[in-house]
Amino acid sequence: MVANNALETTGVTEPGLMMDAIVQHRYGNSDALEIASVPVPKPRASQVLIEVQAAGIDQGTCHLMTGLPYLIRLLGYGFRRPKQPVPGLDVAGWVVAVGPKVTRFAPGDAVFGIADGSLAQYAVADESKLAGKPPSLTFEQAAVAAVSGITALQALTDVGDLEADQRVLVVGASGGVGSYAVQLAATQGAEVTAIASTSKLEFVRGLGATHTVDYTQQDFTDTDERYDLILDVGGRNSLRRLRSVLAPRGTLVIVGGEGGNKITGGIGRQIGAALRSPFVKHRLRMMVSKEHHTFMERLAVLMEAGDVTPAVQGRFSLVDAPEALRQLQSGEASGKSVIVVGAKAN
Ligand SMILES: NC(=O)c1ccc[n+]([C@@H]2O[C@H](COP(=O)([O-])OP(=O)(O)OC[C@H]3O[C@@H](n4cnc5c(N)ncnc54)[C@H](OP(=O)(O)O)[C@@H]3O)[C@@H](O)[C@H]2O)c1
Repeated sequence: MVANNALETTGVTEPGLMMDAIVQHRYGNSDALEIASVPVPKPRASQVLIEVQAAGIDQGTCHLMTGLPYLIRLLGYGFRRPKQPVPGLDVAGWVVAVGPKVTRFAPGDAVFGIADGSLAQYAVADESKLAGKPPSLTFEQAAVAAVSGITALQALTDVGDLEADQRVLVVGASGGVGSYAVQLAATQGAEVTAIASTSKLEFVRGLGATHTVDYTQQDFTDTDERYDLILDVGGRNSLRRLRSVLAPRGTLVIVGGEGGNKITGGIGRQIGAALRSPFVKHRLRMMVSKEHHTFMERLAVLMEAGDVTPAVQGRFSLVDAPEALRQLQSGEASGKSVIVVGAKAN
């Protein structure tokens, strides 16, 4: 394990510096993960090296851990095993070194964003995927913001064209993306209906949902209500079911949902929606989140203003990160879980 700030004093090119990290040398569930001592990564020209204070997890990290759907492997993440043995995307920490082409950050800056292997004491990240940490947020809060927060922001505003006073339905409101979506929609003045399971209804009400639907007890299509905007994040409902509760000129944004087939993950549902959209009155949209600092900066403004607060519901040490991922995969987790790495994370 390296001492705190060791890189500031010894230099990033110093060979042999080691750190604690979660590693995986095969695709699998959380039992494929273990803690190990590995070399501190070196930032490339446009990258930043971060002393990680806290890291976040999300379903994307689970997909990269399992190598499922197989489409992921074809996209270059490693055919037989992960090319990047250290998992983890969401990060918050201190910049300790920068590559020669980095212009926006310097050692000592507090940042959050999306890294390449954040479940470790140190992680590299492209400068373009980092923003300054809002001063009022703890590292723990900032560490769970980027992946889910910018997805919700883009889905509601850039893709969904959310307007105040709209009736918004969030399917999968109690998870990572949903916990941001409910807050973002409510803070824009929308009337939010949140779909979640029984034990998480109170949680989504606390995020700002006016109405809740317990999907384990009630069919959300069994209503006269019609929504102006539906954000589909969980449950993989059919287009027909989702459209049945959409207002005549309403918008459906399909973000994702677990449980699709092993090869494509069921991306066909998203593509099908986009292809059908020109022929119907509903606007049917799919989306792939753009990982760029401009979105993180927009989110940072909202978080700094107190309009959105990262919903940290679970805290784990680095060594317990596999358990955090297991709980996320099993559906036990709600909101966001944070992996506390540094001593100054909160
Ligand atoms: N398109 C993109 O760019 C993009 C970006 C980020 C994420 N995603 C995808 O979006 C999805 C959600 O991500 P996440 O991080 O928010 O996941 P998450 O934290 O695991 O949340 C999943 C949500 O789905 C809900 N859910 C599960 N089964 C359901 C059902 N039958 N009906 C209604 N809701 C149900 C869960 O509710 P309960 O917990 O209450 O059961 C929970 O609220 C994932 O598939 C992820 O891969 C896509």
